[in-house]
Amino acid sequence: MTEQQTYAASGQLTSTANSLFIQAAFSKPTERPPVWMMRQAGRFMKEYWDIKNRYSFLEMCKTPEIAADVTMLPVDLLGIDAAILFSDILVTAEAMGEELSFTQGVGPRFANPIRTQADVDRLDTEVIWKLQYVADAIKVIQQRLNGSIPLIGFAGAPFTVMSYLVEGGSSRDFKLTKLMLHNEPELAHNLLAKIAKVTAGYLNMQIEAGVNAIQIFDSWAQALSWDDYAEFSHRYITGIIANLNRKDIPVISFCKGSSVFAPLMAQAKPDVISIDWNPDLLNIKKQLPATIAVQGNLDPHILYADKKVIKERIHRLFERMRGQNGFIFNLGHGIMPDIPFDNVKYAVEVVKEFRY
Ligand code: CP3
Repeated sequence: MTEQQTYAASGQLTSTANSLFIQAAFSKPTERPPVWMMRQAGRFMKEYWDIKNRYSFLEMCKTPEIAADVTMLPVDLLGIDAAILFSDILVTAEAMGEELSFTQGVGPRFANPIRTQADVDRLDTEVIWKLQYVADAIKVIQQRLNGSIPLIGFAGAPFTVMSYLVEGGSSRDFKLTKLMLHNEPELAHNLLAKIAKVTAGYLNMQIEAGVNAIQIFDSWAQALSWDDYAEFSHRYITGIIANLNRKDIPVISFCKGSSVFAPLMAQAKPDVISIDWNPDLLNIKKQLPATIAVQGNLDPHILYADKKVIKERIHRLFERMRGQNGFIFNLGHGIMPDIPFDNVKYAVEVVKEFRY
């Protein structure tokens, strides 16, 4: 059995290898671009709130049946071409021993931020067993998907996860994190190395459990200069990708800042680079080896606009990318919670009706 095959609920061997998403991820021709959206399962959906009002966010992540229910919402309600596991990039840090909470309006919080070598020393790296609930969720989701579309697994890139551990939560300027990189680079490397070790093991666990693709989220890399990105982020992502038992599993590398860092990101050998909304996507594609696909890059704010604007902007992007193999439609970053559901659904329809 190869990685792209899973036993469906019927007991039949199914495969997503020929799906639009996997074909595009491996830079093969497709009749139209496949579509999925970052944060496609979330607060912009009434059906998400129906579940969220009954459980905490971490309960949702840690209960495989609920994580599967939420993962399936955009599959059933939007008809996207790939599902993404419902979880969070910070579950690895929690498994390493850090107390994590999510509060409405505040976001993620770590009770005891990591600031010293003693703090780094207390982080446990033999923790994959604590994340078994994610493997269990993947198995439930694959039964539900029944081979219809691929399932994307994911993890945070070490730098982005580090920023939450050091700041203790979300940050606007990453002041303490960057100060650690600049004043105490050895301490930063010790922390990043521990996170990277857990991340590689965690992604291999997801591959073993049956995901069909992997995305690495380095959401806040845009805070870094080129040299700091190379030393404190890119180096660790390269190591993680090199350690994946990826076989025929495509790896997508995402960061905000990819419009600048894409040439460096390519050196880590992902199959796909997910591009933020700033650049001309074709221009970025042409800078990359032909074997690397691009994903993106509609400004998520377009989904607030009138439907005719949504359609026009999607078509404009597609016309620009016409003739290019290796293009997955997505947003430049996640869907915001107050974007109208109808507009998201409409955008998916526009993509699915398009033909090259
Ligand atoms: O994309 C999906 O639909 C899959 C699920 C997913 C979530 N988080 C669910 C979530 C994924 C892939 C993530 C990754 C994640 N988590 C990232 C990287 C992607 C990105 O957006 O850049 C980051 C930076 C985090 C950390 C995180 N988790 C933050 C900053 C927050 C709060 C922000 C907010 O929007 O309130 C979360 C919570 C979170 N993760 C929610 C969801 C659906 C909201 C939880 C809620 O319902 O209150």
